[in-house]
Amino acid sequence: MDLLTLRELWAQTTELLGARHEARWLCAVATGLDGDEFDRTLDEPVTDRMVAHLDSMLTRYRAGEPLQYVLGKWAFRYLDLLVDHRVLIPRPETELVAGAAIELARNVAAPRYVADLGTGSGAIGLSMAVELPLAGTTVWMTDASADALAVARANLAGIGRPAQNVMIAAGEWFAALPADRLFDVIVSNPPYVAEGSALLEASVGDWEPAVALFAGPDGLDDIRHLVSAAPDHLVEGGWLVLEIGADQGDQTRALLEQAGFTAVEIRRDLAGHDRIAVAQSTRVSPPPS
Ligand SMILES: C[S@@+](CC[C@H](N)C(=O)[O-])C[C@H]1O[C@@H](n2cnc3c(N)ncnc32)[C@H](O)[C@@H]1O
Repeated sequence: MDLLTLRELWAQTTELLGARHEARWLCAVATGLDGDEFDRTLDEPVTDRMVAHLDSMLTRYRAGEPLQYVLGKWAFRYLDLLVDHRVLIPRPETELVAGAAIELARNVAAPRYVADLGTGSGAIGLSMAVELPLAGTTVWMTDASADALAVARANLAGIGRPAQNVMIAAGEWFAALPADRLFDVIVSNPPYVAEGSALLEASVGDWEPAVALFAGPDGLDDIRHLVSAAPDHLVEGGWLVLEIGADQGDQTRALLEQAGFTAVEIRRDLAGHDRIAVAQSTRVSPPPS
């Protein structure tokens, strides 16, 4: 009996889905072979177990589940993150948000303290831990969702030595941070979708956690809170970096200016949409208690 090779499995999956790259990613996870190893093994037979694993992933994917959840992992900057239905799927635009926060933190003399609020999978905070100098960096990652923090902890376990610089805490926004610490950079990709928004893609609303998406009637509830409370947790001259909705640039700029921030900038994503708010605190915060 002729055994099915990996090349044939990939070809059959490509034909079924009409998508060669997606087929490759699914076959790679099903077989446990990635990168060069996948290419080197194309003419080897696959096992029944691999085929069964692929079938179960294909059933989920064809029922509409996002590819990232089906694969159970997704790339973000230099990381390969575990992702499932407990966390938002990390987006390419958030890679730019993380990049902005990393650049600002890199310019701060050690010891530097940074915080990623609403960390979800840990995408932003873990990128900071990995990309900032190992010496003199402390990263706090927080979330109100215990489910999300379980995923963030699993991802923390995968980053090696920089994990020693990371603290994870549960709780609502700033309440999760230590009371005796001011931060040089606070970054967040908060929920910013308006409740009932018609613009939200069905695959997002149907599959991704509501707690990660919605923020009141205009989508600005969490941004308003973060902007108003951040100065109490930033050093003088510290930076707030927020991911925002494409239609929230003007309102976020106004909120930041009203709260006394300077150097307010609304940056665009690769699609040309307003996406990242960056602002500097001038408040001289009281010494930590
Ligand atoms: C848009 S997701 C961002 C996840 C991740 N940082 C990313 O960029 O992929 C927002 C995150 O904020 C968390 N969150 C929602 N409400 C919160 C609150 N009141 N306090 C802290 N975190 C909250 C959610 O659980 C979710 O993980």
